[in-house]
Formats: sequence, structure tokens, C-alpha cells
Amino acid sequence: MNTVHELIDEIDHGSMPDAERRKVLLAATGVLGGVGLLAAAYPFIASLEPSARELAQGGPVLSDISTLAVGELRTVAWRGKPVWLMRRSDEMVHALQQPNPALADPLSKRSEQPASCVNATRSERPELLVAVGICTHLGCSPVLHLDDGALNAELHAPGGFLCPCHGSRFDLAGRVVKNVPAPTNLEIPDYRFTTATTVQIG
Ligand code: FES
Repeated sequence: MNTVHELIDEIDHGSMPDAERRKVLLAATGVLGGVGLLAAAYPFIASLEPSARELAQGGPVLSDISTLAVGELRTVAWRGKPVWLMRRSDEMVHALQQPNPALADPLSKRSEQPASCVNATRSERPELLVAVGICTHLGCSPVLHLDDGALNAELHAPGGFLCPCHGSRFDLAGRVVKNVPAPTNLEIPDYRFTTATTVQIG
């Protein structure tokens, strides 16, 4: 088989038949075209790489909260975990802001949350709870209760969360009560508002 140099020599010296020369030139044009396409596509491919990496690691998740009703709890998946978004009523927020001796860690000193959420509602905006919906005891999923008289009396609030596995109880900011198996408050993930009605988790 001829080498590339030999083919170029034959073309240069006109020793190659016209039909053969046309085939060689077409093949060369195809190869150069392919190289050109790859060069042009590289910036686009490179721009995709971080996104693919983020997706593999569980990148940020956006949620539109414009349709989230008061008292409604929505769950979104982030890094394989359920993350709750709940819009609290003024009454709920007011209750969270009152001291409650039943809480084990009311100031969230032993709990996981971003610095911006170290406050009574454990949130950036008082009305919106964003929390990982996994019990800090053994990982069950607590359930929202809005009409449980005993729970509301303990929390001095119109609602809270009850873990069905071993009975841990949390207020509407994810703060755990004393003397239950769960050792800490529910985790609050990193999040921020990208628009007035869009939350980015992670
Ligand atoms: S897993 Fe929730 S109380 Fe045990």
C-alpha cells in the first residue's frame, strides 16, 4: 500500500491517473473536514464536561416555588435524598419564633445547616422550610402532621413532623424534641434563591 508521502509525490508529479487522483483528493478533504469539525466542536464539548461531572456527583437542583401553597410540602430529589420544600403560614412562623422548652436544640447548635439558617425558623425566608426529609435517628422519613392534637400541644404550633419508625418528633423548622431517639435536628441543605420564586438546592 502507498504511504501518504508516496501518494503526494504521485499527485505532484502527475504520474497518477485522473480518476485515482480525484479519489485521493476526496479522501484527504474528508479527513481534513473531520479534523475541522472536531476543532470547532471542542469548545462545545469542553463546556459540557463540568455539567456532566456535576450531574454524576448530584449537582444543584432548581425548584419553582411559585405554585407552592401555604401548608403544602413538596419533595424533590437531591443527591439521592428527599429534600422538603414547605410554605409555612404566618401562624406557623409565629409559633416557631416563640421559645419552646420541649425542643432539644432550639438554637441548632448541634445540628447541620448553612450559617444563613441559624435562626428560629432555620431558613433564609421565614415562610419557606427547606430540609432533608430523613430522620436523624436511623434514616426513616418523618411525616407531616397538621391536625395531631398531641403533637401540636407539645410543639405549641399548628403542625409538626412525626417519624413513624421510633416516634421522633420535629417542629416545622425540623427541630427535634427532647427524649426521642433522633439525636439532632433535621439537616438543612445548602440552598439559595436564584429568582424570587426559584430555589436552587446544592
Ligand atoms: S428512624 Fe426516626 S425515630 Fe428512629
